[in-house]
Formats: sequence, C-alpha cells, structure tokens
Amino acid sequence: MKILLIGGTGLIGQEVHTLLQEKSITCFAPTREELDLESPETIDACLQKYEPDLVISSAGYHNPASAENEPSRCFRINRDAMAHLAQSCSDRNIIMFYISTYRVFDGEKKDPYTEKDIPNPTGVLATSRWQAEQQISERCPRHIILRFSWIISQRRTNLLKYLLDQISEERDVAVVSDQQGCPTPADDAARVIVAIVQQLDCGAETWGTYHYAGAEPVSENRFAEVVIAEASQYHPLKIRKLHMNKLNDRNGIQAPANATLACRKILSTFGVHNKSWRSPLARMIKSYYEK
Ligand SMILES: NC(=O)c1ccc[n+]([C@@H]2O[C@H](COP(=O)([O-])OP(=O)(O)OC[C@H]3O[C@@H](n4cnc5c(N)ncnc54)[C@H](OP(=O)(O)O)[C@@H]3O)[C@@H](O)[C@H]2O)c1
Repeated sequence: MKILLIGGTGLIGQEVHTLLQEKSITCFAPTREELDLESPETIDACLQKYEPDLVISSAGYHNPASAENEPSRCFRINRDAMAHLAQSCSDRNIIMFYISTYRVFDGEKKDPYTEKDIPNPTGVLATSRWQAEQQISERCPRHIILRFSWIISQRRTNLLKYLLDQISEERDVAVVSDQQGCPTPADDAARVIVAIVQQLDCGAETWGTYHYAGAEPVSENRFAEVVIAEASQYHPLKIRKLHMNKLNDRNGIQAPANATLACRKILSTFGVHNKSWRSPLARMIKSYYEK
C-alpha cells in the first residue's frame, strides 16, 4: 500500500510518519510548499505524482482562537480543501483517512460521546471540522474518520507541553476545573491509525466514523496535578500554584466541557484496545527534561 500523508510535520502526523517508516510502509509526506491546502491544484498534483492507495489527512487550521478572527480562511482550509480532497480521492478510487476531533461535540453530554451522538459544534474551528466530516462522508464512500480526544506530547503545542513549559519556566499554571477529557499520547494515536491502515490493506471494508481516546478520563486540573507530581522529579518545585478557572473564563475559545469519547466501536470493528496515558506520560515527561 502506498500512502500520502498530509500534515506529516504536525503533532500526530510526525508520529504517523515515523511509525509507517518503521513498518516499511511506503509513505510520501509532502511539505506545505508542495501541497498547500489553500491551493487545491497542489492536492491534485500530489495525487497524480504519488499515486497513493490511501491518503491520511491530519493537516489543517487548528487554532480555535484565531479561527474566530479569520473564519473564511479556516473554512477554506478545513472544509473546502477536505471536500476537494475527498472528491479527488473518490474519483481515483483512493481511500481517505481523516483525523478529526472531539470538538465536533458541544460537550454537554455527561457520558463519553459515541459515534451515534449527533455533533453540535460550537465556534468556527469546530464547525469547519464537522462540515469537513460531512463532505468526506458524502463524497468519498471509502473513508475512515477517526476522532481523537486530547492529544498529548512533549513536543509542539498541546496541554502537556503547555504544563511542562509553565513548570520549567516557573510560571503559574492556569487550568480549568470544569473540563474533562482522555489524554491520548500522540504516538498512541499513531499506533491506532497505522493499525487501521494495515487492516484496510488486508481488505477490511469497514468505512465510517470511529472514536479513539486514551483510557481513564480525567479533569484538566487533576491531569495538571499528575504532571506536576511527575515533573517534580526532574525540576525542583518552587511555588506550583494552579490557577483554577472555568471554561467560560477563556475568552473566545470554545472548548467542550466533556471531551471524552467511547471506544467500543473501534474495539469491536478493528480489535483496537485503548491504553492508559499514565505510563506514557512518565516517559514523555522524562524525554522533555532530557532534551
Ligand atoms: N492536538 C490535539 O489535541 C488534537 C485533539 C483531537 C483531535 N486532533 C485532530 O488531529 C488532527 C491533527 O492535529 P495536530 O495537533 O497533529 O496538528 P498540528 O500539530 O497543528 O499540525 C498541523 C499540520 O497541518 C499542516 N498544515 C497547516 N496548514 C496547512 C495548509 N494550508 N496546507 C497543508 N498543510 C497544512 C501543518 O503543516 P506546517 O508544519 O507546514 O505548518 C502541520 O503539519 C487535526 O485534525 C485535529 O483536529 C488534535
């Protein structure tokens, strides 16, 4: 199977790229200079050049705050480019594998969201993601949409990196007390993506939408406490004051209070078990301080 990976420099994309290379699965990961979602003709040029059997897209406009200020650009990248990609994949009989997010839900539900729950996104970014999903489902029947909960890593921009940077720079840590999610290490997300890709390569015809999240939901403030405790082995603890806010205090950024996802469908369809984030967390924090 030949794979075209869009977003190979991103948090999840980097891990997917590394794992595909380790497994000797052919993967092309064009840079943004070669494939820019704002220039649809570059999408078609890459499909023509690389002739993939499957396209993974983990690329897009991902900053919820700035999306509110430039909605048309956000929709152009996240929705319109994905619609174009889905149509081009369908026309060429290519499988489309789209990485999506818990943000398509409004977060009002008390229990983990299942694939049967109807999205109700809040804000520009989340709406663009949900509309992308709809475009992909309509245009490219041979698709997988995989939604993740909180992705964590010691690299790039995410909750864990924010906490570690704040601790290291001895700044106060601001968290919310009314949001819960399932931390999911970026390399665990890659493990799941590649496991599904391998099953598709074996002829699985299990198209549709799936959820994956690390086992054990946790609130943001509790997660911060775990990170601080673990980090204290590497960094002498000075004052570690958690600034407790509520989601409503965060201006302009709509984050669902409930980011937890049920993973029964991915287990029953692909045999993918969700793993706890706790031991990978210790490894990621160690790696952060080693660097
Ligand atoms: N991060 C999370 O906590 C989280 C949680 C749940 C779901 N997800 C989903 O996972 C997916 C990947 O997220 P991520 O955090 O890995 O992303 P990321 O680290 O923000 O990476 C974004 C990627 O998109 C590329 N990109 C941005 N604009 C582009 C454009 N116009 N043309 C081509 N490429 C472009 C970036 O390339 P450059 O390097 O050139 O900028 C980068 O490779 C998203 O769909 C997101 O919704 C993420």
